[in-house]
Amino acid sequence: MKKVKKAVIPVAGLGTRLLPATKTQPKEMLPIVDKPAVQYVVEEAITSGIESILFVTGRGKRAIEDYFDYSVELEQELENRGKEELLDEIKKVGNLVPVYYVRQKSPRGLGDAVYQAREFVGEEPFALILADDIFVTPSPLLGEIMELYRQKPAIYLTVTPVPPQDVSSWGVIKGEKVGEALYRVEDLVEKPEKDKAPSSLAIVGRYVLTPSIFEAIERTPPGRGGEIQLTDAIKALLGREEVYALELRGKHFGVGDKVGYLKANIAFALEREDIGEEIKAFLREILQGEDR
Ligand code: G1P
Repeated sequence: MKKVKKAVIPVAGLGTRLLPATKTQPKEMLPIVDKPAVQYVVEEAITSGIESILFVTGRGKRAIEDYFDYSVELEQELENRGKEELLDEIKKVGNLVPVYYVRQKSPRGLGDAVYQAREFVGEEPFALILADDIFVTPSPLLGEIMELYRQKPAIYLTVTPVPPQDVSSWGVIKGEKVGEALYRVEDLVEKPEKDKAPSSLAIVGRYVLTPSIFEAIERTPPGRGGEIQLTDAIKALLGREEVYALELRGKHFGVGDKVGYLKANIAFALEREDIGEEIKAFLREILQGEDR
């Protein structure tokens, strides 16, 4: 049986919800505390057992390539100044995991971005990671669905309940509960209108996909927003392949928009040994000020 060893991370999106910060900077490089958002998901991939990563990039995303590379001048400078700890940290980033890049020439949707990975993936199952979604869970969410795949090969999605007014921001599933937190997916709709959503379970950004997805994407016409939607391609595989969705047990931060991005910064800062207490005291202070 084939193991999930490769991960695909699409990063070609324009980041319009975080403009103007993203005018000249990839949204994936914006820091959560002091680490770019993309590094959190790369670390999750590695802890989950991923052995190589393909970034599907686009115009204006070169900073991501530089980030996961060595930085000779900076490393030299830190060494000269005796900044050992920072030097180790910086070197670690360049050595995390083999990374590859392919360009999505025009932003034609998530399905099209995933399609650019077909040569990298070949005939193996693979993980798809959306860097807009960051989780705090007892064990890495990706690792959990990779383990489910190992026990029973199928397509695996991850979902979390969202309030009814938010369903139209997400792909939504209809599923039959088959385990404590597991659903067998019967239908999927990309960004349904509020009254047409089949449930309140929204797809969040971790998937285990099989190579059959590429041929399904080829046959998928443009959907929501005129884009080739991954959700539609997965739907086309229903009936031919089993699709399951694991419900998230933990916290989710949608860091692709302002509120989620700020929430993640606060939550991660509070967990930090070096600055957590100071941030907590500061938050108390400004909240008390508001009460008055
Ligand atoms: C994409 C998917 C959507 C999913 C979401 C998770 O949407 O198309 O089904 O719910 O990611 O983050 P996007 O955020 O790219 O609009």
